[in-house]
Amino acid sequence: MAWTKEMPARPVVAVAGATGAVGAEFLQVLHDLDFPASEVRALASARSAGKKLPFLGCGDVAEGDLVVQEMTPESFEGVDIALFSAGASVSQEMRDAVVAAGAVMIDNSSAFRMDEDVPLVVPEVNPQDISWHNGVIANPNCSTIQMVVALKPLYDIAPIDRVVVSTYQAASGAGAPAMAELFDQTREYLNGTPDEDLTVSAFQHRIAFNCIPHIDKFLEDDSTKEEWKMVVETKKIMGDDNIKVAATCVRVPVLRCHGESLNVEFSAPVSVEAAREALEQAPGVVMLDEVDNNVYPMPGLLAGTDETYVGRLRKDPTVDNGLAFWIVADQIRKGAALNAVQIAQLLLP
Ligand SMILES: NC(=O)c1ccc[n+]([C@@H]2O[C@H](COP(=O)([O-])OP(=O)(O)OC[C@H]3O[C@@H](n4cnc5c(N)ncnc54)[C@H](OP(=O)(O)O)[C@@H]3O)[C@@H](O)[C@H]2O)c1
Repeated sequence: MAWTKEMPARPVVAVAGATGAVGAEFLQVLHDLDFPASEVRALASARSAGKKLPFLGCGDVAEGDLVVQEMTPESFEGVDIALFSAGASVSQEMRDAVVAAGAVMIDNSSAFRMDEDVPLVVPEVNPQDISWHNGVIANPNCSTIQMVVALKPLYDIAPIDRVVVSTYQAASGAGAPAMAELFDQTREYLNGTPDEDLTVSAFQHRIAFNCIPHIDKFLEDDSTKEEWKMVVETKKIMGDDNIKVAATCVRVPVLRCHGESLNVEFSAPVSVEAAREALEQAPGVVMLDEVDNNVYPMPGLLAGTDETYVGRLRKDPTVDNGLAFWIVADQIRKGAALNAVQIAQLLLP
């Protein structure tokens, strides 16, 4: 049964996980989009209760510090939209309280993404799916979001048979402590600290001056759960179970922004020119593709941006109907906070 409660024009918004990497970006994006909130509540664990978070303001909420409250089931009374980025177990624990309070949970974790009664939404791709939510809408995995934003305009030219994708994922994808670990380890490494004395906790191995082909846990078929997410989430968002996705996900020593190399096979010919035109007109996509001038998207230069950048577009001559390209997006913004706030915008009356 679909949700029937009306969303007020000036909703009360809770940011659950406000002290984290995504939480901080939620506050920034609410300000940047001037989301018409009547109140913004910052929630985190007991560890952070009382901490002050600077907030630039949005809607009826003036600029000033938000005082972090400990998240409990009671935190959601009076809330209309709960933006969640506190990890899957917290989302699972709080779901009933959020829905019982009459709020819509927009969840960044992997807790509910593949549940049949939970839409998995990227506003540029499947905005229509918010219509059947039952109080929970899932934000897809960050690597999947930027990929489908770029695939959708191409899919509209010709159905996609197969995608081979390799990711180059930023350290911040594993949260604020992982970002700090990249900084600290790089400093320690340059100071000559031997490998065995480096602090390694956010990843399985040293991330400074390294690449780690291991994100999330390994599954029975020796793929990782991050790779599995890209496979199944793409089918659900695009509404096409026939799209085959082969993914290899790699963590790289970049602070922010994921890069992805894609090889896409279509069921009919798609010229480079037609693909370029479609991508240039697609919502949320910016082409950065002038090889003669060394112009292509690079993670180090695109932090803090909202779009999915596409470059290196060319024919893949190894298959029939193939294209190859490279994409970059800020995974904390479009891959998490921005996408979720864009979903919240779709809920407004
Ligand atoms: N980073 C990304 O690029 C990205 C992208 C897409 C999705 N996500 C997802 O977003 C979620 C958060 O990621 P993050 O990168 O922001 O992590 P993070 O920087 O480690 O932040 C985690 C947040 O969750 C809060 N938290 C942890 N345990 C809690 C508890 N028991 N009760 C209440 N709050 C609790 C933390 O509060 P304290 O400060 O009080 O500990 C903090 O605010 C994860 O599910 C992640 O998979 C992250």
